[in-house]
This record gives sequence, C-alpha cells and structure tokens, in this order.
Amino acid sequence: MNDLTLQKARAYEAEHGAAISPAERPAYHLTPYVGWMNDPNGFSYYKGQYHQFYQYNPYDVRWAPMHWGHAVSTDLLHWEYLPCALAPDSPADNGPGCFSGSATQMDDGKQLLMYTSVVAEKQPNGEMRDIQTQSIAIGDGLNYEKPACNPVLTQKDLPEGFSKFDFRDPKIWREADGTYSVVTVCLAEDGSGAAALFQSADGFDWHFVTVLERCNNQYGKMWECPDFFPLDGKQVLMLGPMEMLPKGEFHNGHNVIAFIGSYDQATHTFTKENVQLMDGGIDFYATQTTLAPDGRRIMTAWLQTWSDTEDKPKGCKWFGQTICPRELHIKDGRIFQTPVRELDAAHGKRTFHENVTVQSETSLEGIKGRVADLTVTVQPGEYRSFTLKLAADADHHTSLTYDPHTSELTLDRSYAGSRADIVHRRSCKVRSQNGALKLRILLDKNSIEVFANDGEQTMTVWIYTPQSADGITFAADGKATITAEQFELNL
Ligand code: FRU
Repeated sequence: MNDLTLQKARAYEAEHGAAISPAERPAYHLTPYVGWMNDPNGFSYYKGQYHQFYQYNPYDVRWAPMHWGHAVSTDLLHWEYLPCALAPDSPADNGPGCFSGSATQMDDGKQLLMYTSVVAEKQPNGEMRDIQTQSIAIGDGLNYEKPACNPVLTQKDLPEGFSKFDFRDPKIWREADGTYSVVTVCLAEDGSGAAALFQSADGFDWHFVTVLERCNNQYGKMWECPDFFPLDGKQVLMLGPMEMLPKGEFHNGHNVIAFIGSYDQATHTFTKENVQLMDGGIDFYATQTTLAPDGRRIMTAWLQTWSDTEDKPKGCKWFGQTICPRELHIKDGRIFQTPVRELDAAHGKRTFHENVTVQSETSLEGIKGRVADLTVTVQPGEYRSFTLKLAADADHHTSLTYDPHTSELTLDRSYAGSRADIVHRRSCKVRSQNGALKLRILLDKNSIEVFANDGEQTMTVWIYTPQSADGITFAADGKATITAEQFELNL
C-alpha cells in the first residue's frame, strides 16, 4: 500500500496550489491546482456547473501515480479549484493509480465517476506489469466514495483475445431509457486497439455489448481516450491512436481522430463513413466531450501531448493545461470546431484594421499581446504566401504560413525558445478558394489555438516563450490584402 492518501493530496494542494497566484497561470485555460496535469477527465455538467476533473500528480510537475484533480466553472473560462477528487488509495488502484475516465449523473442525483484503476502485479515470469480494470466512485460533486465492488469491469468481461494490460479510459453516458453505457479502449491480439461498448442498468453491474470499431493496425497501435456521441444527425467515435505513422492528414506520434458514421442503436452497430484528424497542430491529445444544458456538444482536450512534456519552464509550479473548450458541428461530412461562445462575452477593447495591403514584415497599431482573441482575414489575391508571426520579439516567434497554391497552413515554433528535440513544425490543408483565408487565433500566454476557415481545421500549440515577446507581425510574398480584428479579453 502506498501512502498516497486523499487527505495527504488535499492538504498538499491546499498549501501549495493556493499559493500560486492567478497571474502565474493562463487567463482562461485550466491548469492543475499544483503539479502535473495530463488528460481532462469527467467533463460533465452537474448541479448547475461544468465539472472538469483531470489526471493529476499534485506533488511534482511530472507524471507519477495518478490522482484526479477537480475544478468547476459556469462559463468554461473561469475555473474554481475543488479539492482533489480521487487518490490512488484503494486495493484496485493503489499502483499507477486512477487513470482517465468520465462522469455522469445517477438517478438519485449522485455523480458517478468511472475510471481505469491500475495496479502493478507480478506475472508468472516474475515480471511486474500494470493491470488495468475499470472502477467507479460515487459522490456529491465534492467528495467521492469508491464502493467495495470495485473493479466493476475486468478483462474477464471482454471477449477472448483482449489484453489485461491495456484496457482503459471509460467514457460513460446515460441512454434515453436511463441505462448506462460506457465505451473503453482495449488491446486486441493483433497488437492494435479496439473500442468496446458495455452497458449497465444501475451503474454498478456491467456487461459487454459489442466491439464498435477495431484499429486493425490501420490507425496507430493502441487507442486511448474514446468518446462516442451523436452530432448533427451522425454518430462520432473519437479517440487517440498512439504511435501513428504519418499518412495523409495524420501526423506521426499520438493523434486524435474521429470516425464519423451512423449507429444502429437496436443492433449496436457503428458504420463509419469518414475519418478525420481532430487537430493539425502539435500539442493536442486526450479529447473528451460533454453535452451542455443548451444542447451544444462541447469538447475539451489536453493542450499537450506525450512527445514533449519535458519542455517546461525551470521552477514551474504547475505543468499542463486544457484547451479552451470548443463547440463541435458537422458540415460537409467533417467536424468543425469553434471556441465556446462564452468567450465572445469576454470581449473587451476592439482593435480593427480593414483592407490593409501587406508585403514586407509589418505590425499593425494595437495588434499585439499574449492574451487575446484575434481574427485575420486574407482576401483572395495574387500573393504567393502569407506569414503571421505571434509571440514575437527580436529573438522569438511562432509563425503561421499559408501557401494559397497548395492550400497548406504551416505552424512553426522553431524560434519559440523550445528545446531542439521536440516537434517544431506541422502543416495541414485548408480548403479555401482563390487564397481566401480566415484565421481566428486564441492567445493565452503559453498557448496558441488556431481555427482556420471557421473551424474547418484547427492547430494547437504550447510555446515556451517569455511573456515579454508580445509582438504580432504580418508579411506576404507578393501583395496580400488583410483585415485584422483583435479583442482584448475581460476575464
Ligand atoms: C492518455 C493516457 C490514458 C491514461 C492516462 C494515464 O494520455 O495515457 O490512456 O488513462 O493517460 O495518465
């Protein structure tokens, strides 16, 4: 038994988390109370508030046995920290801990959390391996109890041919008839992931229903963090393939992809029609969605990924953050993403420049900063490329370059101040006509989120650049005519 109790975590964060001033955090993105965050968990609306739990190690800015951190918000921009919700302190999870999972409301008004419980177990060959099962915790939005029946799902509940070492990340929801459903990912005999569906009448007793989709080694290897939800008349299976080889729009390493298709609820058959990459940038992983009370499907994600978590400021007291939550829609068979409309209500001072001709690198009066909502529209025209630099000073910048002939948008943080051995550049194709391009850019200190052409493509990146680098410049090879509109954010 480890000594990682909930009381210890709560006492630690109450002292060290509370000592971090709001100025040391992003203005409208959620960060861990103190220490390390990876995946957002349990994103849900409960008792009049959005709840956001997250993979959490309060004691250090690196991954270690997992706790669940907890925060609430009414507008998805301002977050209030609540005490740590789960610690790796029960027989089912007192090893690597309480891995990712989700939340829903039960009939009696209680909040049900379902998560992957991980322990290290000696194998017949003497080797220690992590065993993954699914457990539940029930609470009131503040305190949670783990029932004695945990774990509620083990490898024994899966059909033959799935591994007990990789079976994780339950995403739970209620069906119209009140029954509970959960989708998890699991590793099949062919060494690749699958998404499995389970159901329960009461949230305690679960049975296997079907395998919704298999990777067949086509989209990465193991999958992580699944989600399964209806959207604009379609059904979406969103998940994170690990160790993907670059192919078409999919980049190497960890991706988030969405299968868009249809779902026959009577036979539990998911039929995929399209598959797409969810973000063409660098730091984006572990998505999770929830339904807002007004019917919007809202997605959050870890604004980071596993390949470059060592690139952190010296002496930082927290590391990791979520994206600004995004509204999802389907248009022409693809998912579009836009920042939650709550952000519009935070718009402050507006700076506007209309139809400016841009050639050599130039700045525009009043357009600058590291916390802002900026929209740049490039008119169709004869320019050969257009470049926007953000978080810029003499030594630093992160650039976005658009090539109207290839329709390629390239994000490049080579000069952001990062270490050499991380990914610095990624490109994605933007569908546009005659070089017309619209970029909405959310800046929040160390993060940049780009929404191209009303969210048809997004590119997300974390930059390790001093806050004093707050310049924004525009340049074109040829002549580009642009309009720039920037809002300060009143937060
Ligand atoms: C994804 C992930 C999950 C797992 C969690 C552990 O980033 O690897 O599959 O539950 O992180 O912290």
